[in-house]
Amino acid sequence: MEFKSVTKKYGDVVAVDNLNLSIPRGKITVFVGPSGCGKTTSLRMINRMVEHTSGEILVNGEPNTAQEPHKLRRSMGYVLQQAGLMPHRTIVDNIATVPRLNGTSAKSARTEALQLMETVGLDTSLAKRYPAQLSGGQAQRVGVARALASNSSILLMDEPFSAVDPVVRQDLQKELLRLQSELQRTIIFVTHDIDEAVLLGDYVAVFAVGGRLAQFGTPEEILREPADDFVASFVGRDRGIRRLTFAGASDVKIHPLTSQNTPWQQWELKVEDGKPAGWIIDGRTIPGGSLFVEGGTLRDALDSVLSSPSGVGVAVDRNGKVLGLLKSEDVLAATEAERHRRYGVNA
Ligand SMILES: Nc1ncnc2c1ncn2[C@@H]1O[C@H](COP(=O)(O)OP(=O)(O)OP(=O)(O)O)[C@@H](O)[C@H]1O
Ligand SMILES: [Mg+2]
Repeated sequence: MEFKSVTKKYGDVVAVDNLNLSIPRGKITVFVGPSGCGKTTSLRMINRMVEHTSGEILVNGEPNTAQEPHKLRRSMGYVLQQAGLMPHRTIVDNIATVPRLNGTSAKSARTEALQLMETVGLDTSLAKRYPAQLSGGQAQRVGVARALASNSSILLMDEPFSAVDPVVRQDLQKELLRLQSELQRTIIFVTHDIDEAVLLGDYVAVFAVGGRLAQFGTPEEILREPADDFVASFVGRDRGIRRLTFAGASDVKIHPLTSQNTPWQQWELKVEDGKPAGWIIDGRTIPGGSLFVEGGTLRDALDSVLSSPSGVGVAVDRNGKVLGLLKSEDVLAATEAERHRRYGVNA
């Protein structure tokens, strides 16, 4: 998919300003930026819910104006912030709508809809409910299922997870990444949350006020080398820490668990059935910090150290069993080594 010198004006207001952008096939591209910078407009121009003022948008090499708007729209999945479900139709019928419009029989459209519910982690017992009878997170999953039902290789998602609480949001993000690893669709995902952009995007397009594309690149590139002051301020002060998301922690030593390994002798890790269960000090048990799960990133390793009441992180395997302890000095040394490697400088 490609935007070629695409501009959208509403009267005098330039919503999108001369956008040039190639969107890679089979990847997640995130449009991120502050409110009013033209993200939704850019997304909607792809399937012609909004018509561009000038320039050209190519979909699979063809100008999107070559197809009837309603056909184009049906050929792409579209997920909205508020799921946008039809209130008077059941969940299963909501999901089956587009396949029905495309001529699939009622029976197979429903069978497929039930399968898709499972795919997105929804209990099929919810099939006969109406949208108002679902939680926000469930409704968003229905939205995703419905978009997948179009069976199109292109999915457009406009802030699909912004109306749900942070925990549900994390679940939905993980679910999307899992689905994408199987489906490899071309996904365009709009958000104003840089953390979400960095987590989900294979590529990120940062939009600035006035509908200008400020930078396009991998999340790692954008955090490492913001193109201008706007991008630097938008990606924020924590970008050094965010960048550690892209570095593995295999260099960080995991110390075997002995009481001498804590910085202060009085801290003792409580272990139950091989799993960490808090820290003991002066006979009191204090909840532990975040755990470093084997194979995690340097950011996870650093967080496990910083969040631990004892000042040492706890490493666990994928089953949650204690592997050992992480020390802050080792984590910092690993970030140093990573920096030297990145810039090709010898330590
Ligand atoms: N139908 C419309 N008529 C007039 N102006 C519009 C219309 N839709 C959008 N705009 C203007 O175009 C600009 C870009 O809007 P757009 O909705 O694309 O922003 P956005 O980046 O999606 O913002 P948000 O993060 O708030 O959703 C804004 O200045 C907006 O006011
Ligand atoms: Mg928007």
